[in-house]
Amino acid sequence: MIRNSQCETGISFVGCGSATPKKIINNNQLGQRVDTNDEWIQSRTGIGERRVIGENESLIDLATDAALNAVKMANWDVKTIDLIILATSTPEDLFGSAPKIQSNLKASNAVAFDLTAACSGFLFALVTASQYLASGSMKRAVVIGADQLTKWVDWDDRKTCVLFGDGAGAVAIETTDNQDGLIGYDLKSDGSKGGCLNLFQSNIFLDLVQGAKHQKGEYLPIKMEGKEVYKFAVKEVPIILGELLDKYQIKPESIDWLLLHQANQRILDAVASRFSIPSEKVLSNLKHYGNTSAATIPLMLDEAVRDQRIKPGDLIACSGFGAGLSWGAALFFWHGPY
Ligand code: COA
Repeated sequence: MIRNSQCETGISFVGCGSATPKKIINNNQLGQRVDTNDEWIQSRTGIGERRVIGENESLIDLATDAALNAVKMANWDVKTIDLIILATSTPEDLFGSAPKIQSNLKASNAVAFDLTAACSGFLFALVTASQYLASGSMKRAVVIGADQLTKWVDWDDRKTCVLFGDGAGAVAIETTDNQDGLIGYDLKSDGSKGGCLNLFQSNIFLDLVQGAKHQKGEYLPIKMEGKEVYKFAVKEVPIILGELLDKYQIKPESIDWLLLHQANQRILDAVASRFSIPSEKVLSNLKHYGNTSAATIPLMLDEAVRDQRIKPGDLIACSGFGAGLSWGAALFFWHGPY
């Protein structure tokens, strides 16, 4: 079922920010580790390099910087933030990393929590935050997508390790009495296909006391059936986006920007071609960051806002997809500055 915001209060996108690690690893460098090469990776994925969190960096610091940049763009006093949602599958603390970000931001009036939906996480978190705003119970929210998949990648598996990188992005959204910036959205899950892409816990049990064992808290590296995930994305993303466009009677040619989860250039191209959206309207920074999971959408948004490709009032068609399996789409207007 497609939902729209159906709220008395509209939502406005007023700020965005991002932060990425310093260390860049290019495809040729990866070729020193596994049997791969720049030509293969570029032609199959569009990825040229990725960023990897190093010893003096942390995901929480990146997420904090991304959030702070979004708050600065929105020109907010941090004390006016009501809600912080951190979309991540790679928290530094399994109990949640968002409260630490709230404390770093000195956003003492905000409630903060993590949300996990893998590469769809940012979109799921955005829609979740929008409910609090639409209900009138909160006015300002920061939604962060941040992931450090490089700590869960098997760096000896060339089929997966070339794809992922680390990063963080954020948006600042607030209630508005003017036009609702979030036109509509839809979110979906299909756990029956979850085996295609996962980061499972290991199944190790250790002796606890006589006659009882306890499970060891430990995770296995990312496992992926690349072809299945590819087929899922190129099938489901056009369907969910197409249904949303139909519902709001928006023609694909009215879209200013196609902003998809950055997983593979071939997926971006395939979705764009289904709607005859020209390549100039397809946002892509895969070449520099690879797949940063929950961070890709706000990272790309921030880049395109700050270099003034995205202008105030532009209509953005957005879709995220990934492990779960989970996927979603949203249509929104950028209301922020630049
Ligand atoms: N370098 C060189 N060769 C590689 C390689 C690499 N990094 N990875 C795989 N290969 C080889 C394979 O071993 C295989 O060789 P073989 O034919 O001798 O067995 C060949 O390339 C083709 O592999 P295949 O897995 O069929 O490639 P593909 O065209 O499906 O591309 C992906 C692989 C991963 C790029 C592609 O399936 C994909 O992008 N899937 C979606 C993944 C994704 O986006 N995941 C995250 C979603 S949020």
